[in-house]
Amino acid sequence: MSPFTVLPLSGSLRKASLNTAMLKMAADCAPPALRTNPHRDLGDLPLFNPDLEVNEPPSVARLRNDIDMADAVIIASPEYAHGVSGVMKNALDWMVASGVFVDKPVVLWNASPRASIALAALRETLVVMSASLVNEAALEMLIQPSDGVEAPANPDPVAMRHALLALERALRFRHHSPGASVSLRPIPSPQHPRP
Ligand SMILES: Cc1cc2nc3c(=O)[nH]c(=O)nc-3n(C[C@H](O)[C@H](O)[C@H](O)COP(=O)(O)O)c2cc1C
Repeated sequence: MSPFTVLPLSGSLRKASLNTAMLKMAADCAPPALRTNPHRDLGDLPLFNPDLEVNEPPSVARLRNDIDMADAVIIASPEYAHGVSGVMKNALDWMVASGVFVDKPVVLWNASPRASIALAALRETLVVMSASLVNEAALEMLIQPSDGVEAPANPDPVAMRHALLALERALRFRHHSPGASVSLRPIPSPQHPRP
């Protein structure tokens, strides 16, 4: 069976983004059965305006196509003033009408466990878009900037590998049982100290 394609989406445009760094790390931690596409930059999308949906902007069409082609999407997005980043919300708003997220396996990752309000709001938005959240592959990992910001401190490859294996398991289940929910019973995950 060919590998499952996973699309990482970051809600941060910062060059030194911890959420983007977390998503990039997935390429090294993924089991062979998961092929992670390069992280997708959402900065090329125009601000959402339903009037523009009649002639879909090319950047919006590209994102919709990327999501459509992916077996699963992993989202990592920062919290700004207790809200979902505008970058991520803008991208999701563009996707609503297409229905591309309907039944799409989506995993929520978070580079800052204290940012729980935005995470809950993001979850709510995806639920209302009928995405299929793969909770057993969710991951909260305190990642902190280091001096050479390109390599953030505290990454935990074991926990990430564990999450990606859970995603692979859910996708295999879905593949063998079309129409079934991807949600499986939670599997034990390693313990992580909270800040
Ligand atoms: C304007 C602003 C508002 C922020 N508000 C919050 C917040 O409400 N809660 C929180 O946990 N972090 C908040 N932060 C911290 C960011 O979420 C944090 O810097 C995060 O690492 C940014 O994501 P990134 O590293 O992927 O770019 C805020 C940062 C900025 C610049």
